Amino acid sequence: MSKLIVRTIDLSKVYRRGKVNVPALNNVNLQVSSGEIVGIMGPSGSGKTTLLNIIGGLDKPTQGKIFVDGVDITSLNEKDLADYRLKKVGFIFQFYNLIPILTALENVEIPLALMGAPKDERRERALSLLRVVGLENRADHKPDELSGGEQQRVAIARALANNPSIVLADEPTGDLDSKSAMAFMKIVRDLNRRNNQTFIIVTHDPLVVEQCTKIYTIRDGRVESA
Ligand SMILES: Nc1ncnc2c1ncn2[C@@H]1O[C@H](COP(=O)(O)OP(=O)(O)O)[C@@H](O)[C@H]1O
Ligand SMILES: [Mg+2]
Repeated sequence: MSKLIVRTIDLSKVYRRGKVNVPALNNVNLQVSSGEIVGIMGPSGSGKTTLLNIIGGLDKPTQGKIFVDGVDITSLNEKDLADYRLKKVGFIFQFYNLIPILTALENVEIPLALMGAPKDERRERALSLLRVVGLENRADHKPDELSGGEQQRVAIARALANNPSIVLADEPTGDLDSKSAMAFMKIVRDLNRRNNQTFIIVTHDPLVVEQCTKIYTIRDGRVESA
């Protein structure tokens, strides 16, 4: 029996653009069990990124609650929410969001530095994470000296730095060739199996979808099918 790690209750989000209300999520009730690899599909503009950002504590819902590991994150103050983002979740973005002037190793060290880890420990952990994604021999390379697939693997290593229980990925293979996309999913599966980490992946990619343990579809801000 696995426990629920994410549970949203009547989650709604309405953006305000000037005087116009833009509904993005409409009463979403989503349940994710610990250790799942969940795929979220849906047309452009259906609310996928909004949902991921809210689960990750980057944005707040207009209505509803969201429990992560039993804690209602909508009730957290800014400090506790920042703590939640740093310790509980890892984010992987489509365009990697690596810092261009830092090396692969230094990029992976960022979350560890934010946690206040001592320099030696940081370095050692960042190197071991680069080893996990097969990039220990690229530690001193800057992002523009790496291929798209390699940059995405650095982004995975960075997302994992603080050993988050949930990893959120927004169209992580959208910019990758199929070989890199498969390499990405192999790492996800290995981590999931080894550490029981939960993944929630927004994707259109059939290569990703076939590796997920569960698929949800969002349409017009509603979760449609399980
Ligand atoms: N910051 C924002 N301000 C206003 N409207 C937004 C904002 N972000 C997203 N939206 C709108 O919310 C809806 C859902 O967007 P989004 O979650 O990005 O969808 P998806 O990731 O599925 O393409 C869209 O109509 C989009 O235009
Ligand atoms: Mg999106």
